[in-house]
Amino acid sequence: MSDATGGGTLDPAAVEPLLRGSFGRPYLWRESCTSTQLLLDGSLAEGAVAAAEEQTAGRGRLGRVWEAPPGRALLCSIVLRPPAGRPAPQISIAAGVAVARALEAAAPALAPRIKWPNDVLLDGHKVCGILAEARDGVVVLGIGLNVNQEAGDFPPTPHYPPTSLRVATGREHARAPLLAELLWQLETAYDAWRAGGLAALHGELAQRDFLAGRAVLVDGVAATALGIDPSGALAVEVAGVRRLVESGEVVLPA
Ligand code: BTN
Repeated sequence: MSDATGGGTLDPAAVEPLLRGSFGRPYLWRESCTSTQLLLDGSLAEGAVAAAEEQTAGRGRLGRVWEAPPGRALLCSIVLRPPAGRPAPQISIAAGVAVARALEAAAPALAPRIKWPNDVLLDGHKVCGILAEARDGVVVLGIGLNVNQEAGDFPPTPHYPPTSLRVATGREHARAPLLAELLWQLETAYDAWRAGGLAALHGELAQRDFLAGRAVLVDGVAATALGIDPSGALAVEVAGVRRLVESGEVVLPA
């Protein structure tokens, strides 16, 4: 196994003893796979997790690819069975809360922000992408968290240039404890969301909302972001009128 960065392995011997809840049971690990999203299906229990050191065809949102050098990121997917009446797209936002909490647990000085609908940012730079895919009667939630990449490891990207936990803190981080913490925080945030919807996380969401109060472009139209609505949509104001954006691309003007 490549352990060139010193960030440790994510193999079951390293991760399973650190698990605190039911997420991560079972825990499937691969040194290399096409995409952890494809290792899971509806035959598995809620909370089943797949993780890999490397993906050869990592999937991003909107058909994009998700790239990370081997052994440096957290690349994982989780089986979820959200109850009827809880819109699945909200899961990405609840997961963003969990990622932010896990980052703060690793480095308390950080101030992670959730960028609607599925990114987590550090200092305005994307540190994590989240992908919720419905399949086989379950939601497979994928999380790509940049941990030990160096600045030169990232491909050029137009908006929200990437960063990693290492770039933000100036030191390497052990990935197995970070994954265990992430799964615990995900279970906690998911349980709160199952019981009470996004309203249960709303105070924290408002505090962590990256776009709230900023001038933005919604599919090219100038607007002011008001914040993440409890429905999971992004509330914006366009020419004095409040609107809810349920999907689409929201970027800061150049
Ligand atoms: C995005 O920002 O576009 C979402 C990226 C999601 C990437 C993660 S990495 C683990 C899981 N497996 C994949 O192929 N994609 C997700």
